[in-house]
Amino acid sequence: MKRELSLEFCRVTEAAALAGYHWLGRGDKVSADDAAVKAMRYMLNDLDIDGEIVIGEGEIDEAPMLYIGEHVGNGSTEVDIAVDPIDGTRMTAMGQNNAVAVLAAADKGGFLKAPDMYMEKLIVGSDAKGVIDLNVSLEENIYRIARAVGKKYSDLTCVTLAKPRHEKAIKVMHDMGLRVYAIPDGDVAASVLTCMPDSDIDFLYCIGGAPEGVISAAVARSLEGDMQGRLIPRHIAKGDTPDNRAHGENEIARCKAMGIEPMTVLKLEDMVKTDSIIVSITGITKGDLLDGVTLDGNIAKTESIMIRGKSKTVRRIKALHTLPKKSQTIYDLVFGNGTNK
Ligand code: FBP
Repeated sequence: MKRELSLEFCRVTEAAALAGYHWLGRGDKVSADDAAVKAMRYMLNDLDIDGEIVIGEGEIDEAPMLYIGEHVGNGSTEVDIAVDPIDGTRMTAMGQNNAVAVLAAADKGGFLKAPDMYMEKLIVGSDAKGVIDLNVSLEENIYRIARAVGKKYSDLTCVTLAKPRHEKAIKVMHDMGLRVYAIPDGDVAASVLTCMPDSDIDFLYCIGGAPEGVISAAVARSLEGDMQGRLIPRHIAKGDTPDNRAHGENEIARCKAMGIEPMTVLKLEDMVKTDSIIVSITGITKGDLLDGVTLDGNIAKTESIMIRGKSKTVRRIKALHTLPKKSQTIYDLVFGNGTNK
C-alpha cells in the first residue's frame, strides 16, 4: 500500500471525528454514529483506491452505509478497510473521555473478516511478544508477562473494560496486587496505549467487540506488540438467558459459515496477515491517547495518531481546520445542519 495513503486515511478519521463532535454530550449515540459514518464514507469515496469494507457497521441488510462488503473509493489500488467511525458512541453522547474515530487499512486479504460478536482479547507491547496464550489461565499469563517485562507481577498494570462480565478477572488481578484501570468503553484506544513503547500499561485483557478486536490486532502488529483473541458467543460472554442463547447460536452458525471456529484461540497473524497496514485514529473527546475535537467559530482542531505497519512509524498530527473551506457535506455534518440539534 502506498505510504501517501496514510495522510488520506488520516483525513478520513479527522472528518468522522469532526462530524461526531457535533453530537458530543447531546445524549444521542445513534445520531453521533450516523454523522461519523456519513463523513467517513464521503471521504473514503473521494480516495484513489478500490477499497472493500471488511470490518464495518454490519451486514448489508442491517447497515445502510459502510456495510461489510461495500466498495469505497474511485481508483484501482485494492485495499481492505476496517472502520469504527466512533469507538465510544456512548462516551460521545454522554460527553465522556476517550472516544475516537478509527480506520485500519491493509493490502487485500490482510484482515480476518470477523463477525460482529464478542471477542476475548489479550494484548501486550513488544517486551512481552510471544509469551501470551489464551489457552492458559489469566494468572499464568500474568506471571509470563511479568517475567518478560522484568517486573514483579504485582507491579503490572492492566487495562480492561468496566463491565460486569469482567468482575471475576478484575478480582483475580486485584487479589494478585495488580493495578487495574477499568475504563467504561473504548478498547481500541486502550490497545494503542498498551502497545506504545512509552506506555505504563503492561497488558489489556477484556471481552469486547470482535470488529474492534481486529482493529486492535492491526495496531498490535504495527507496533510490534502481540495479541491473541477468541470469538465468544453472546450467551457465554453475557450470561445464558434465552435471548442471549438464541443470539449466541446465531453467531456460532455465522462463524461456521465464515470458516472460523468460535472459542478457539486466534493468534495475531490469524487476525492480521500482513505488515502492509495503515492505522489512523482521531480523538473525538479528549482522552489519554489523544486530544478531542475543539471548535471555535469556524475553526476546529483535531489530533490524530497515524501508524504505518511496514516502517513502524507513529506520527501525531495536530490539524487546524478552516471549516468553510471544507466540502458542503462535511461542513453540514460538523454543524449538524439538517438536524434539529
Ligand atoms: P461502540 O462505541 O461502537 O459501541 O463500542 C464501544 C465499546 O466499548 C468497544 O470499545 C468495545 O469493544 C465494546 O463496546 C464492548 O461491548 P459492550 O458495550 O457490549 O460491552
